[in-house]
Amino acid sequence: MQSCIVVPSDKSISHRALIFSAISDGKVEIENLLFAGDCLSTAGVLSDLGIPISLSRKSRSAVVVGKGKFGLSRPKKMLFAGNSGTTMRIMTGLLSGQSFDSVIDGDASLRRRPMLRVIRPLLEMGARIRGRQARIKGRQDVFAPLEIQGSRLAGRRIVSDVASAQVKTAIVLAGLCAEGRTYYREPILSRDHTERLLKDFGIQLCRHNGWLVIDGSKHLVSPGMVFVPGDISSAAFFMGYAAISPSTELMIRRVGINPSRLGVVRVLKRMGVKITFLNKINSPEPYADIVVKSSNLRAVRVKAEEIPSLIDEVPIIAVVAAFARGRTQIEGVDELRVKESDRLYALAYNLGKFGVRVDIKEKKTRTDLVIYGGGRFSRPRGRLRSFSDHRIAMSMAVLLARLGLPIEKLDDRECAAISYPEFWDTLEAVTKGVDYEF
Ligand code: S3P
Repeated sequence: MQSCIVVPSDKSISHRALIFSAISDGKVEIENLLFAGDCLSTAGVLSDLGIPISLSRKSRSAVVVGKGKFGLSRPKKMLFAGNSGTTMRIMTGLLSGQSFDSVIDGDASLRRRPMLRVIRPLLEMGARIRGRQARIKGRQDVFAPLEIQGSRLAGRRIVSDVASAQVKTAIVLAGLCAEGRTYYREPILSRDHTERLLKDFGIQLCRHNGWLVIDGSKHLVSPGMVFVPGDISSAAFFMGYAAISPSTELMIRRVGINPSRLGVVRVLKRMGVKITFLNKINSPEPYADIVVKSSNLRAVRVKAEEIPSLIDEVPIIAVVAAFARGRTQIEGVDELRVKESDRLYALAYNLGKFGVRVDIKEKKTRTDLVIYGGGRFSRPRGRLRSFSDHRIAMSMAVLLARLGLPIEKLDDRECAAISYPEFWDTLEAVTKGVDYEF
């Protein structure tokens, strides 16, 4: 079967395009913006901070009127980041260096996600942030709502112990509002959309001996227009579907192929999937049409240093691994415990319902996920659970569709709209072998 689909725009780039435009010096038109729950949360927060934003769902574009780094206004109410960890963490960095106080909160899932990773380095820069201290899932941390007292920040040397693009971006924005220079280092390079997009806004962040250098005297200049390519994390669900479906070939058009996001492509290729890039465009955020062909799958070992480049794709890789010959070991996946749900538990729970053995190996220094493949699945009793997590819902939907089981076997399917509102229509088209474009 053969079909050609378009996937939604990149979520990470869409958040950044909105936020950088808001603090630039003029009008920016964002083309092909992602219209999904998380990015609408970012747009809502910026609008509550006095930024004029007009959204056109029909043309998938936005016009944002930037007011400069210190042009945001004091919000009249509590800011609400919804389900979006990216909105909350990045905005906390930006709000720390403003001249007004603010409070930012999120939904029940976001209130359970750790914020100390972003608060601790910001405190080192002179920020004043208070949150809810609690022990959740055995981990002591600080959680939303966060009260941020606007402060004069100072550049510092920040060493992060997590490879997180959200934390990096929060520090970059705080650094741009701080006095002097900020130096930032992370254990493994996280996705670099911030570094790439800031170039369009006239800011070249240098790298010096492993440090990212942020100069507080720099201002963002409007580039006039920003284009957002398709999201490889959304494409990954259909790359996974094609990989596990015999005699299937799928073309996914205009997908971002930023090297810091290509872990899923590298892993699927090692598993035996044939993937080619066509019609490559070499802009700062490169993109291409991706062609995926099914084939015999073999188990692989995914090393911890690969995780940042495929962090959101572990659920769909685990589904593909269940079809592969042998035992797939995905190492160093501790971060998956604190995503929109505990994704390790969610995967073991759902794949376990099909009789697939999944082990979560808690070691001294890291946690590994082990999937015993073989492609034998029993009919699941009871319903699968999405745990209100978009990426778990879509990964399980791919598995159900491949096994010819009804989608109704999965609960709470609406959560897919957090990143991919058109997912269900696209899945239907792909299973029928027809094209899908929106
Ligand atoms: C994101 C970074 C990743 C990713 C998330 C989006 C971003 O999170 O999981 O979906 O846009 O910066 P971490 O930075 O916590 O790894």
